[in-house]
Amino acid sequence: MSYTEPLLDVSRLSKSFGTHRVLDQVTFRLPPGLHALLGPNGAGKTTLVNILSTLIRADAGRVRVLGLDPQADQRRLRSLISVTGQYAAVDQRLTGTENMLMMGQLFGLSRAETRRRGGRLLERFDLTTAAARPVSTYSGGMRRKLDLALCLIAAPQLIFLDEPTTGLDTRSRLALWDEITALARAGTSIFLTTQYLEEAEALADRILVLHDGGIVAEGTAVELKERLGAATLEDVFLALTETSATETGATPNTTPAEKTSEKAGSAA
Ligand SMILES: Nc1ncnc2c1ncn2[C@@H]1O[C@H](COP(=O)(O)OP(=O)(O)O)[C@@H](O)[C@H]1O
Ligand SMILES: [Mg+2]
Repeated sequence: MSYTEPLLDVSRLSKSFGTHRVLDQVTFRLPPGLHALLGPNGAGKTTLVNILSTLIRADAGRVRVLGLDPQADQRRLRSLISVTGQYAAVDQRLTGTENMLMMGQLFGLSRAETRRRGGRLLERFDLTTAAARPVSTYSGGMRRKLDLALCLIAAPQLIFLDEPTTGLDTRSRLALWDEITALARAGTSIFLTTQYLEEAEALADRILVLHDGGIVAEGTAVELKERLGAATLEDVFLALTETSATETGATPNTTPAEKTSEKAGSAA
């Protein structure tokens, strides 16, 4: 067997918040490609993505992303990856186009290149008209789409998409699927979290299922179905996650800061 350098190489990764151990010796390895992390609400998907993408530190374990340590090689890794969540990393005072130009500059693209690629992305997400207006006038859905477009402009080596299509209308969701597929075909690796089984099945080369603090299954959709004798990926998911569904503090994606303040409030 020939091995290229793994995209993600994680071994015995643990992370707790207070006494709550969210990730317990998580171990997996993925080659370059388009992969999906499935897991019930509160399973720790966002926590894992935040660790992989340098945003938070693991308590223990070994993590390599594109061969780099997210903490020790943070700067270098940040120049190779792009990450988006359900919150918009967007400047509200600027217009969509201005945000786009800023992002392009950040990634060293020329203005012309940014306008060309940015224009196409804005069109794709139905933001062409809105692009002239300040983001403060956008709806939540529009901000989210702009956030995604901004994330895609840099065409980095690896993109983390944390529940990228949650809350999007069907049309935008399908447009995003197309973008993701096109990016992957062009050689960008993608690690996405999703609660939509059909999304994982439609897009991902390999699927990881996170449950009870660990990876309980890993493989292609076909492999997972075969292994569990299940007809659909939904049956696989239900079979793997039926025990003690992690209903503890099941929060949809919020920023770490928001979570911290929530916890601080409830712990008092
Ligand atoms: N900064 C934080 N402080 C305290 N608890 C947190 C923090 N971030 C996440 N958690 C908790 O860790 C668990 C996993 O959260 P998360 O990674 O957001 O799961 P998912 O993305 O799979 O829904 C949840 O119980 C959540 O409340
Ligand atoms: Mg999440």
